Amino acid sequence: MPAKINKVVIPAAGLGTRFLPATKAQPKEMLPLVDKPAIQYVVEEAVGAGLTDILIITGRGKRTIEDHFDRSFELEYYLERSGKIEDLEEVRSIAQLGEIHYLRQGEPLGLGHAVLAAKRHVNSKPFAVMLADDIMDEGSKTLNEMLTVFGKYGRSVVALMEVSENEISSYGAVGVSPISKNLFSIRSVVEKPLPNEAPSCFAIMGRYIFTPEIFDALEKITPGRNGEIQLTDAIGSLIEQQEVIGYVLNTKRYDVGNKSDYLRATIEIALKREDLGDSMRTVLRQLAQEQALLNPQSNDLNVLNLPQSAPGSDRVND
Ligand code: UTP
Repeated sequence: MPAKINKVVIPAAGLGTRFLPATKAQPKEMLPLVDKPAIQYVVEEAVGAGLTDILIITGRGKRTIEDHFDRSFELEYYLERSGKIEDLEEVRSIAQLGEIHYLRQGEPLGLGHAVLAAKRHVNSKPFAVMLADDIMDEGSKTLNEMLTVFGKYGRSVVALMEVSENEISSYGAVGVSPISKNLFSIRSVVEKPLPNEAPSCFAIMGRYIFTPEIFDALEKITPGRNGEIQLTDAIGSLIEQQEVIGYVLNTKRYDVGNKSDYLRATIEIALKREDLGDSMRTVLRQLAQEQALLNPQSNDLNVLNLPQSAPGSDRVND
């Protein structure tokens, strides 16, 4: 029976260059999806799957991440005095999410380098890695299912998603052979391949369970693409030693380090919220109508398939 996993490493030290200028002086992991920073969704997902020992890899300009998960006595005092008890409880509960540790990466030398920084903390046990800019649909059981796969095989498990040929060059691509319906044995790995060099359209997503041997692989590899220590290259080295299993996601996921996926995530999350869903639908309906007027040829209203508003209900309430 493989050891039970309770540690997760969340690398959050990257520069977030795809989201400039917003990320010039603030971490991309702190960009809000509606009213909650992206990294809080990831920490909540970890805690929900029983991973309560959380190590966040940070770097220069990332202090707000630590502040966010810490107590805020001034704010709590103010909320208590003003009788804003619900807000107070919410603010306090954030500081009680798991046992969070921080480690600075020093220089952002790549995702693999950030994971390697966790070696001492992880202490030769299997552990999970979650990317702070990869957000799974609410209620996703991805991590639980990956932990179950690890429990069965005792081998590293990497989340995969099938993407289009045009998209594969933005990801780490894998060559696979099937094990069962949504499980594959990973045979080869290429970081951001040209479309004609991708071994398949299965792309690596930001959820991993690793055996400690990943650290030997990370120590062995040389800097790859962009001069960075690539986690994908280390997975390529690990498969030479032991099997690595690919688990195909069956949930929606958003790369919120990418502007259009970020906007989509924000809208979809707002649509599902009880307090915002109706007003958001009204906004979208109005926008679709405006677009249809501006662009009579396009079928925006049909494409969006939004329910028509009841008479007089087109005021947007907050
Ligand atoms: P990304 O490649 O998506 O992040 O890495 P990035 O480098 O910040 O983004 P862009 O491409 O410049 O916009 C995935 C995750 O790994 C972390 C990032 O913070 C992100 O959560 N990371 C990346 C590190 O912790 N250290 C690094 O050196 C690189």
